[in-house]
Amino acid sequence: MPLDIVIGAQWGDEGKGRAVDLLSKSSQIVARYNGGDNAGHTVTVGPKIYKLHLIPTGLIHPDVIGVIGCGMVLNPQTLVEEMDMLRRGGIKINPERLWISDAVQLITPGHRLLDRAQDAALGNGKLGTTGRGIGPAYTDRASRRGLRAGDILDLEFFAGRLRAHLEQVNLTLTESLKQPGIDIEYVLKEYMDYAVQLRPYIRRIGPLLQEALKDGRTILAEGAQGTLLDLDQGTYPYVTSSCTTAAGVFSGLGLGVQPVRAVVGVVKAFQTRVGAGPFPTELQGDLAVFLRGTGANPWDEFGTTTGRPRRVGWLDLVLLNYAREVNGLNELFLTKLDVLSGMKEVLVCVAYQRNGDTLTSLDFSGDARMLDGCMPVYKTLPGWQEELRGCTRWQDLPAAAQNYVKFIEEHTGLPVKTVSVGPERDALLYRD
Ligand code: GDP
Ligand code: IMO
Ligand code: MG
Repeated sequence: MPLDIVIGAQWGDEGKGRAVDLLSKSSQIVARYNGGDNAGHTVTVGPKIYKLHLIPTGLIHPDVIGVIGCGMVLNPQTLVEEMDMLRRGGIKINPERLWISDAVQLITPGHRLLDRAQDAALGNGKLGTTGRGIGPAYTDRASRRGLRAGDILDLEFFAGRLRAHLEQVNLTLTESLKQPGIDIEYVLKEYMDYAVQLRPYIRRIGPLLQEALKDGRTILAEGAQGTLLDLDQGTYPYVTSSCTTAAGVFSGLGLGVQPVRAVVGVVKAFQTRVGAGPFPTELQGDLAVFLRGTGANPWDEFGTTTGRPRRVGWLDLVLLNYAREVNGLNELFLTKLDVLSGMKEVLVCVAYQRNGDTLTSLDFSGDARMLDGCMPVYKTLPGWQEELRGCTRWQDLPAAAQNYVKFIEEHTGLPVKTVSVGPERDALLYRD
């Protein structure tokens, strides 16, 4: 009855979609447990590129059941659009293979407006959220006035709750933020339509998943965002509003800890971040352009959800070791090693210098200010010129690329079990 967990080990966009796609082959259920349509998970299958924001990536596999867990926040409009998009691509979507938790919180256009207006009101201090209403929806959940998917099973009750929510949003928008209000009747009508469409998919997820594990089925928990965006353990306040770490799996799906088998940290061969916040190894100039790409390739570093250019930098092993600790990672899935081909040398951050001290690990409790004044100490490794696309065995990798992987293993104490050298399904190799 195993439960495997896939976690972003950096600031998101590590290639979790790609890793989940691989691991879904040996899973019967793939469940998202946190975040909402701020996520953008990409899977490349032959000529098709799927960019999924809400639906678990595993659903692309015909025999997998996808779950939207109660730790998420669900925008019904995005979900309905995504279901249509997948259907057009020939993927079967029906209530037998997509289960929505009755306890998941719903996002409304009110949440989106509040998110954008509140972030803009921060001026230079803004977080650079995705504008998807994530923060306000989790705020309503914590304030115990949120709308839950199960509410739509009683349309009259739901309409009353939705109206009260929109009236309250309008008050905040017009009074505090001096913004125009929202058309309540329009949203009510729209949400009644979504309610009718989504009702058949609503389930009591916890018991179903517990039962599945007892029956010997494998569940894969698909994390969204990354460890350093975790509400508590990330670089607060430059974080998202959910629990992105392994801890979120249990409350976000209604499961206990016993069935956990593997906690896989997905890590990019370099570091990226979208939005504001500290980034000790950030690069500018030609090296940044090299790592980011120009946007000509589908995998270049431009946000899957917002299209924003991602900030890029050298791999930070101090932060990766932090991610190992807070998640209990037991293996790594390394992505985008191919992107480093062509560099003369590759730098890796192994420590920080701060106020004359050298820190190899962080006494860190998720406060962005703790990274203030941290200057990276780099180890310089030889680069490699060979293209890695096409390497399918460990021994196909040039020695310098093998050394880079081994260096990560030595400094984290974790095995890099899988190395990805391209976005395509088969562009990966297993470490001997
Ligand atoms: P996620 O949010 O963690 O699922 O990652 P994203 O999908 O937002 O961003 C990862 C991007 O890198 C996507 O465009 C993937 O197709 C691409 N990708 C994943 N693994 C590799 C790899 O090994 N090499 C290359 N070149 N691209 C990759
Ligand atoms: P995936 O799952 C990268 C970032 C935003 C912003 C901060 C808060 O594709 O890895 P939010 O809209 O969540 O309130 O924004 O979090 N962020 C992500 N960055 N990948 C993501 O998801 C992200 N989801 C949110 O850019 O800095
Ligand atoms: Mg992404």
